[in-house]
Amino acid sequence: MTALSVSTSSAASLRADALVVGVAKGPKGIVLTSGSEAVNEAFEGKLAEVLSTLGATGAEGEAVKVHSPAGLKAALVLAVGLGEAGEEGHELESLRRAAGVAARTLAGAKKVALVLPAESAAEIEAVALGGLLGSYAFGTYKGNGNGKEPVGELVLLAARKGSKDAKAAVERAAALGEEMNRARDLVNTAPNDLNPKSFAAIAQAAGKEHGLKVEVLDEKALTKGGFGGLLGVGVGSTNPPRLVKVAYTHPKAKATLAFVGKGITYDSGGISLKPAGHNETMKCDMAGAAAVFAAVVAAKRLGLAVNVTAWLALAENMPSGSATRPGDVLRMYGGKTVEVLNTDAEGRLVLADAIVRAGEENPDVIVDVATLTGAMVLALGNRTFGVMSNSDELRDDLHALAGEVGEQSWPMPLPADLRKGMTESTIADLANMGERMGGGLVAGLFLKEFVAEGIDWAHLDIAGPAFHEGAPYGYTPKGGTASAVRTLVRFAERTANGKA
Ligand code: BES
Ligand code: MN
Ligand code: ZN
Repeated sequence: MTALSVSTSSAASLRADALVVGVAKGPKGIVLTSGSEAVNEAFEGKLAEVLSTLGATGAEGEAVKVHSPAGLKAALVLAVGLGEAGEEGHELESLRRAAGVAARTLAGAKKVALVLPAESAAEIEAVALGGLLGSYAFGTYKGNGNGKEPVGELVLLAARKGSKDAKAAVERAAALGEEMNRARDLVNTAPNDLNPKSFAAIAQAAGKEHGLKVEVLDEKALTKGGFGGLLGVGVGSTNPPRLVKVAYTHPKAKATLAFVGKGITYDSGGISLKPAGHNETMKCDMAGAAAVFAAVVAAKRLGLAVNVTAWLALAENMPSGSATRPGDVLRMYGGKTVEVLNTDAEGRLVLADAIVRAGEENPDVIVDVATLTGAMVLALGNRTFGVMSNSDELRDDLHALAGEVGEQSWPMPLPADLRKGMTESTIADLANMGERMGGGLVAGLFLKEFVAEGIDWAHLDIAGPAFHEGAPYGYTPKGGTASAVRTLVRFAERTANGKA
């Protein structure tokens, strides 16, 4: 794992493989950002000119390397683009992304010094987090020498006066970044290695390490409890389902949050089998469970004064002679019956059980996170998650908090007219499918049926942003992204600081 530290030594005298400086787009060409003065001096004041000659424009995502002149202890200078600066300087998300680009570009280096413009604690945290996330590499299955090692050590250069604040900011970034990278590992792990049982074991081990209470319901306990949704989805697989509860409590907590995650460790579609072209990345269907798990561990590591319970609804959706058929009726936890018209609409079935169970403990808010529908990807694309809720205020709140931490989201409605398709066409209380049009909202409306009276609930459909298939950008690698983790942690933090 990449080490993070803060240093107050001068950029010129720091021994490192590379020094990273920021360049912005100015009205008349590129502009060096604050912090890079000592580096510029070593270039006799001509760093901007040199970089410009090499093609630098200051655009976001850009990385330009220059050999260091005498006077710098590091052999290499890397200039990363920050885009245009606004009136109040650079946005935190540009800093995160630029640090991410630097860490990715310099993979293989042992020690890298970040000399990016970071004065406030928030800026220092952003640079540290971006650097840590950009350093991520998933090496579990790669042979030695097959792919570069991530940067060994990232050093942030900070002004002497702010060094205490800076240390705390870097520690926060480390807790968040390491837990996000843990979520990415879980998503990237091949589905023949990550199944409900092995995921539950990982949660138990991490719970022990961090002092969290972990309870696992296995298939016997689920049968005894009547968790028909989890059992119905898992019954076609040789890997039986699990419901995992991970609880963090704080003695001064005034509120309790329940985070429920969809944990389908592989989604083949079941008997309503997905065709080739739609199943190659379906190991990512547990990204919601990975996100809520990472969030509760991060809340603990940050010592937030709020109770957070994560519920991981784990199952593998497979076709077999024992699998649930389209047409079967399941009795869900809590007693509602559901006619399964399409076994590929399985996420809502496992979530329904977990949402009812979570509601029994009377949390102030339930937030579920799920790679739930292709329809949401069609609506919002690959980088934006949808936010739905039974409370407009909570919905808008989560959307705003996501923006604050650099996650793209959009508020979506739960139109009452779409509910009919799920209730009028069925022999049971509900069908697991309704109208095709607005499929992401139909799924949200299905979940809403399982939220206990009086509890505020929100649903984040992360089917688009959970798994990145294109070329890496900013701090986002190929594969698992840890979508929604920062939003959940920010929500917990804000709740701890007073607003429930
Ligand atoms: N896991 C999928 C949704 C998904 C799609 C996640 C693309 C990530 C990327 C979900 O279980 C699913 O299959 N949903 C169906 C629901 C339909 C049958 C009502 C869908 O969206 O097609
Ligand atoms: Mn499915
Ligand atoms: Zn699914």
